[in-house]
Amino acid sequence: MTANAQTPALQEVSWTIEPQAVSVGDARRRAVAAVADWCPGDLPAEYADTIRRVVSELVTNAIRHAGQAGPITIAVWVTPNNNLAIVVHDSSPNPPQQREPYDDGRSGHGLTVVAAETITWNWRPEGKGKSVCATVALPHSLTRPRRAAALAARVRDAIPRPPVHSITPCQAAALSAA
Ligand SMILES: Nc1ncnc2c1ncn2[C@@H]1O[C@H](COP(=O)(O)OP(=O)(O)OP(=O)(O)O)[C@@H](O)[C@H]1O
Ligand SMILES: [Mg+2]
Repeated sequence: MTANAQTPALQEVSWTIEPQAVSVGDARRRAVAAVADWCPGDLPAEYADTIRRVVSELVTNAIRHAGQAGPITIAVWVTPNNNLAIVVHDSSPNPPQQREPYDDGRSGHGLTVVAAETITWNWRPEGKGKSVCATVALPHSLTRPRRAAALAARVRDAIPRPPVHSITPCQAAALSAA
């Protein structure tokens, strides 16, 4: 699972999890740690909380509804629009279906939370299973300086440098005497 080849990722991390409850908290921590690493300065708490909630729901769903079907992989990356893509791939072809949460409050809430917390979410068949993809906003003020620095470095590298000529001791003496 990789970012779309036509829109190359600026930063991306992916890993495979075991279908166990402990993997949910681990996934939350890894996702937030990766984003915090990519963003200069502190990642504001509300952005980190959103990432945690979305990762929690998608990973819990994959474990609960598809955990027996095969491997589960998580990928997060910064999109060219400075949003965060969160993709959870599982091995079950059954689709996620957002629905009215059950009145008893016990289930049917996860995708409602995902829909409320994301810019967009969707899913697509992939391999014998599917990928559930969610996009959440990142603080642009945090990601922009890194992009600007990368662009400045590219511009710097593109500027042709004057050739460096070595001079003989005889020429140096002539120059300093001039
Ligand atoms: N990864 C998945 N694989 C297969 N089915 C899924 C997956 N994710 C969600 N679903 C289906 O979509 C339904 C709605 O998911 P949602 O997360 O909203 O509720 P839930 O998981 O049933 O309960 P809750 O998240 O409130 O504990 C699930 O009941 C399940 O049928
Ligand atoms: Mg759920």
